[in-house]
Amino acid sequence: MNRSFKSIRSARSLASLASAANLALTVVAGAAALLAGACAPDKMPFPEGETHTFATLNEDGSAKPDGLAVSAHDLNLGYQSYTRYCYACHGVKGDGHGPASYGLRPPPRNFTLGIFKFARLRSSDELPNDADLKYIVKNGLHGSAMLAWDIPDEELGRVLNYIKTFAPQKWEKTKKNGDHVKTLEVFEAPADPWASKEVEAIARGQELYHLKAECLNCHPSYLGKEDLFKLSTVAAKREPDTFKAIGGFRDDPHGSVAKDSAEYAVRLLPPDFTFNQVRSIHPGSEINDLFRLISFGVYPIMPAWKGSLEDKDIWAIAHYVKSLIDLRSNPAAAAKLKDGFEAQKGFEIPKAPEPAPVVDATPTDTAPADPKATGARKDDPKAVDPKAKDPKTSGVKKAPVTQ
Ligand code: HEC
Ligand code: HEC
Repeated sequence: MNRSFKSIRSARSLASLASAANLALTVVAGAAALLAGACAPDKMPFPEGETHTFATLNEDGSAKPDGLAVSAHDLNLGYQSYTRYCYACHGVKGDGHGPASYGLRPPPRNFTLGIFKFARLRSSDELPNDADLKYIVKNGLHGSAMLAWDIPDEELGRVLNYIKTFAPQKWEKTKKNGDHVKTLEVFEAPADPWASKEVEAIARGQELYHLKAECLNCHPSYLGKEDLFKLSTVAAKREPDTFKAIGGFRDDPHGSVAKDSAEYAVRLLPPDFTFNQVRSIHPGSEINDLFRLISFGVYPIMPAWKGSLEDKDIWAIAHYVKSLIDLRSNPAAAAKLKDGFEAQKGFEIPKAPEPAPVVDATPTDTAPADPKATGARKDDPKAVDPKAKDPKTSGVKKAPVTQ
């Protein structure tokens, strides 16, 4: 049995207690997987001659309407590898309820839904290509029980094809004309325009993060209140009162806003980049991974910015978020950042100047009764207090008249 985990790539991955707990659970899961592999039933799920046809792309990127046909032989091999490596968490039925799944947070993915967080999906009709899925499995998801799996490419391909059989409504779907649906194109990041302009990229990214892209509506704000106000009113020329809607002024501007997620059966907390681990952002390829993640979002809980922001701006945000991630290995700098928030905690939005008093220009020669003084509506003659006729006792004022 050639089961191996890729070594954890950086000491940082082990930094938080949460990840240590996950690691312990993973060891348990690993033991269960080994056991399962040893006692794998001989009966194979796919009878000889059966074929399953999945959504795919041709290598040249063109549509392949007849899909990718996989033989029972290959699916049975995929099943065996799945049982060995993945079943303990993802379960016999692929529903995420394997024997080692209990108590795991986040829970293992339910493959029967055919949806994925980090595979660039932007709608429930889309399907990832194998390259995206392989990237996820080979690199793992930091801070979760999903470690990096060093499985030979061909074998991993068979495991992934087997996983597709858990969601035939997605992967084996055909259109009205009988064509199979396509998977997403293979992703290629455009060139990073900020390559030698790190400082400018971070400054631009910081502004976008806190303003136009509104990342701080879910993730923490990394500017003190006053700095945020200045950025908003000076840089973006906002009116002071429209600024109130900005996330930086929510009750806990430097915390995250948890999102309920029926798809993933758990509440998800958008990470604080200076503290939490980021699952699909890998040491050494952070900027590229961030560009991909911000472009496509986290389906369906974090929106995609591709199309609503230019690539250049998405790259700038990637550089800025990377600079925040780097603070995890620099606690002194992270503490200094947070001290800055404290110093600006009491900042209040300056009040807009009082508007000039409004002058009533209605011409009138009968002074209306003051309803406050009489307790009566002036259009109801019976209700009018006779005393109200005496301006001295009723407090009736003459309306200012300008003619
Ligand atoms: C120790 C438990 C465990 C094992 C074993 C395991 N996984 Fe996972 N896997 C998880 C968890 C937990 C998640 C969810 C992480 C999250 O939601 O952030 C996950 C998520 C995934 C995802 C979804 C990624 C996305 O973008 O949504 C895929 C695909 C996946 N695993 C494939 C595999 C494959 C293939 C194997 C076997 C080679 C495997 N896993 C083994 C725990 C495990
Ligand atoms: C509507 C809320 C929302 C907004 C707005 C939002 N995010 Fe997120 N983001 C989330 C949630 C929820 C997660 C956690 C996903 C998980 O761990 O399952 C997340 C995760 C992330 C991650 C970590 C991904 C990983 O691999 O673990 C990054 C990086 C990120 N967001 C960046 C951004 C940036 C940059 C912006 C602004 C351009 C942004 N987000 C806007 C909700 C949001």
